[in-house]
Amino acid sequence: MLTTTDLRKVYPTGDEALKDVSTRIEGNEIVAMIGPSGAGKSTFIRCINRLTEPTEGEVWLDDTELTKLNDDDLRAARRNVGMVFQEYNLVERLTVMENVLSGRLGYVSNWQAFRRNFPQEDVARAYEILDTVGLADMENKRADELSGGQRQRVGIARAVIQNPKILLADEPTSSLDPDTSHAVMDLLVEIADAEDIPVLINIHEVDLAVEYADRILGLHDGELVFDDDAAALDDDARDVIYRGATPAELLGGGKPTATGSPESSSDEHDSPAPTTGRTPVAED
Ligand SMILES: Nc1ncnc2c1ncn2[C@@H]1O[C@H](COP(=O)(O)OP(=O)(O)OP(=O)(O)O)[C@@H](O)[C@H]1O
Ligand SMILES: [Mg+2]
Repeated sequence: MLTTTDLRKVYPTGDEALKDVSTRIEGNEIVAMIGPSGAGKSTFIRCINRLTEPTEGEVWLDDTELTKLNDDDLRAARRNVGMVFQEYNLVERLTVMENVLSGRLGYVSNWQAFRRNFPQEDVARAYEILDTVGLADMENKRADELSGGQRQRVGIARAVIQNPKILLADEPTSSLDPDTSHAVMDLLVEIADAEDIPVLINIHEVDLAVEYADRILGLHDGELVFDDDAAALDDDARDVIYRGATPAELLGGGKPTATGSPESSSDEHDSPAPTTGRTPVAED
């Protein structure tokens, strides 16, 4: 289970890319994060494993507070977070098998890795995962001989072999054609199920998000303005996410947001809306 509490990021340039984002992602749910360009989607994913350091707030993965860890502990904890990238980030001149096994680098010693001496069970698991992602018999192809869709499958296989507790994908389909995008989304759903882990996907195509996600997170200008079932993403919610319209501006009110329902923000009190974020340690 991933929990973020009041996660805030201010870049040195002064850009406030995340404004107190609190949410929770658990089970084997597929969560899509949508929002206009510059809304903070990539920043959110990168702050989870601290590729980008959050300015304030907490990130918890199960009972580990990632935001508190020193460098060594963080390196170990990052094994639990599988990352899938838009541009695949493969080593072009290495084979499919070598790229997949590089997902085990956090586990084997530097010497083993240098000798490409991976334990037999890792190799067996790599074959199994290559089969799952539809790349059986392609283990000896070089990454630079693959199509975009095949590369993304390798990227997913490399993340899965880490045995992560969560999979984070930043725009995994935006370099792919529509059919291949569907195939990759199908695969991510299949993996959430098979591995019993949640998957968070940053995605530009709202239709794909609605089709595949159980839940949608909507970011606008760094603020989490929508956090609800995919079925609840109506036109008003899209306006809030993409135009920054406030619920009060929308005829007939709006959908509840992460920072409170329209009712609570329209009453006479000026106090800030209650946050929905809870820290795992405060649960008892
Ligand atoms: N390294 C950085 N230094 C300074 N500002 C940054 C940096 N990275 C992102 N930003 C700013 O933070 C905000 C959020 O950027 P981010 O890349 O997270 O958005 P995004 O939702 O992923 O956008 P896109 O859909 O275009 O990928 C933007 O205003 C961006 O200019
Ligand atoms: Mg982005």
